[in-house]
Amino acid sequence: MYYSEDLVEEVRSKNDIVDVIGSYVRLKKKGNSYFGLCPFHNEKSPSFSVSQGKQMYYCFGCGAGGNIFTFIMQYENYSFVEALQYLAERAGVSLPQVEPTQQQRRQADERARLLAVQKEAAKYYYVALRRDAGAPGYRYLTARGLSEETMKKFGLGYAGKYSDGLYRYLKQRGYKDKLLADAGLVTLDEKRGPADRFWNRVMFPIMDANHRVVGFGGRVMGDAKPKYLNSPETAIFDKSRTLYGLNFARTSRRKGMLLCEGYMDVIAMHQAGFDNAVASLGTAFTSGHASLIKRYTNEVLLLYDSDEAGTKAALRAIPILNEAGLVSRVVDLTPCKDPDEFLQKNGFEAFEQRLEGAVNSFLFELRVLRRGYDLNDPQSKTAFYREIAGRLLSFQDELERQNYTEAAAREFHIGFEQLSRLVNSEGIRLGGVRPAARPKPTAERDGRRREKEEGDRQAQGLLLTWLAEDERIFPVVSKHVSPADFQDPVYRQVAELLYAQHEEGSLVPARIISVFADDAQKQSEVAKLFHSPPAEGDAVWEKEHTLQEIICRVKELALRRMKEELNPADMQQMQRFIQMRNELDALRKTHISLDLG
Ligand code: GTP
Ligand code: MN
Repeated sequence: MYYSEDLVEEVRSKNDIVDVIGSYVRLKKKGNSYFGLCPFHNEKSPSFSVSQGKQMYYCFGCGAGGNIFTFIMQYENYSFVEALQYLAERAGVSLPQVEPTQQQRRQADERARLLAVQKEAAKYYYVALRRDAGAPGYRYLTARGLSEETMKKFGLGYAGKYSDGLYRYLKQRGYKDKLLADAGLVTLDEKRGPADRFWNRVMFPIMDANHRVVGFGGRVMGDAKPKYLNSPETAIFDKSRTLYGLNFARTSRRKGMLLCEGYMDVIAMHQAGFDNAVASLGTAFTSGHASLIKRYTNEVLLLYDSDEAGTKAALRAIPILNEAGLVSRVVDLTPCKDPDEFLQKNGFEAFEQRLEGAVNSFLFELRVLRRGYDLNDPQSKTAFYREIAGRLLSFQDELERQNYTEAAAREFHIGFEQLSRLVNSEGIRLGGVRPAARPKPTAERDGRRREKEEGDRQAQGLLLTWLAEDERIFPVVSKHVSPADFQDPVYRQVAELLYAQHEEGSLVPARIISVFADDAQKQSEVAKLFHSPPAEGDAVWEKEHTLQEIICRVKELALRRMKEELNPADMQQMQRFIQMRNELDALRKTHISLDLG
């Protein structure tokens, strides 16, 4: 269903953000904004602000932010269209009824039915765990160290000894055999009749990022095989795109995500306070999982089992994480097998220390590689060093390669000079052909460069903040800076929209948020822009001075980019470059006057 931009805007403007959010969160007026306790993370003092003027909200604690659509999407776990429909109804705006195609409707119905039946099943198991007959399950989970609170949070349940308890329960509620089979909850056997898939197991509902149950894992309470039984894939359960625990981890305030292998590991970590833990369940880690993570963070700590299978799985996951632009490090939990066991034995502090000691995934790969060589044997040792050198070659960035060479040299007690020479000679031996380059996530570059990049980005963002805050500075700024000068893609898009709004008459920042409706991360990024007002009370001359600095920095960056792409043979381009450089030089000496009278 596609709704026009105008309609979206009508719905947005007819729902006052303070009204709507006020019905969910108790808000108090403070200066120009309203403040309250953030509904998206736990906090004791209010850092959640709502601006009536801008019709936006932003949390200074967890970074959640956006307009009224974002809020409803986040709070109610609605899709954009669902939020739009909800708010349209609230404001009495009628949406055009465009008939979905028959196939679309069938699919939507099917998904809705599957979600409903999974939810009902989760309820059944949940209640069963707390009945007398569920005592073995409850005892088992308690013995594994789970608190009542944790069991509740993860909705853990119990599938009893009868092989058709769930089947009869769901039939009573009117669900049809076929749906139950499609949902993977029941098997239909001609001879034996319908039977529950899960029985005599503790049940782990698997939820999507929006807390909706999409399937189950069930564990035997002893040593029987198979240890875990999982729901099959269905229209709502795609294993290569589902991460257990993501529904909580996505709003965690902890840095990065902790990636592990099992249900129990995730739960144990959450219980201990590491609420950024997720697991890919029973399936290998895929690029689908990686891009899911990438939506929320740039950093992953791997906590796979310490056994051989776990190590192998980690080695397979690392390139997938790299490929997605995620920086990964590997946590060593030996002598414990997995995070669950480690936490049981050693507790929070020790775990935190292991996280801090995580080793860069490149070095981890080398350490594993090392096990295959006998360093007492000269030939084997040479081969190992060669292999290291070959891998180092895959870093195309000079400085990065040097840093890794240094680290590898230290780790394996090779002289840095010696290893560097080996890298060079390997390069020549391989005929100057470098192996496939390692994708280079920004965060892996050296710190200084990153800081500078961050500064460049901040300058661009600040300029947008100022523009949105006080339209009167528009004429001054637009004399020097055009949207094309913004190098950050999101900021450039925001600049284009702001400039266009200014042309059309007036700024409506909240409207810009709607443009990023399908990307929560971008939405909060943009909301943040519009929620960090420049320091109040600065004298005009101070503002003028700061503004000049910001403008120069933005121009400088644009110029630097231009230089990088400059083709000396293109005279026109050269001339434009020189002209821009002269302008910038002049700008540095000019006093920008805001004349805000
Ligand atoms: P326990 O601590 O023994 O409860 O298990 P765990 O969480 O440590 O899991 P383990 O490391 O044994 O396995 C990791 C994950 O792989 C589990 O959480 C399951 O998702 C999956 N898995 C393990 N065993 C089986 C199995 O027998 N069948 C299937 N389909 N999946 C399994
Ligand atoms: Mn375990």
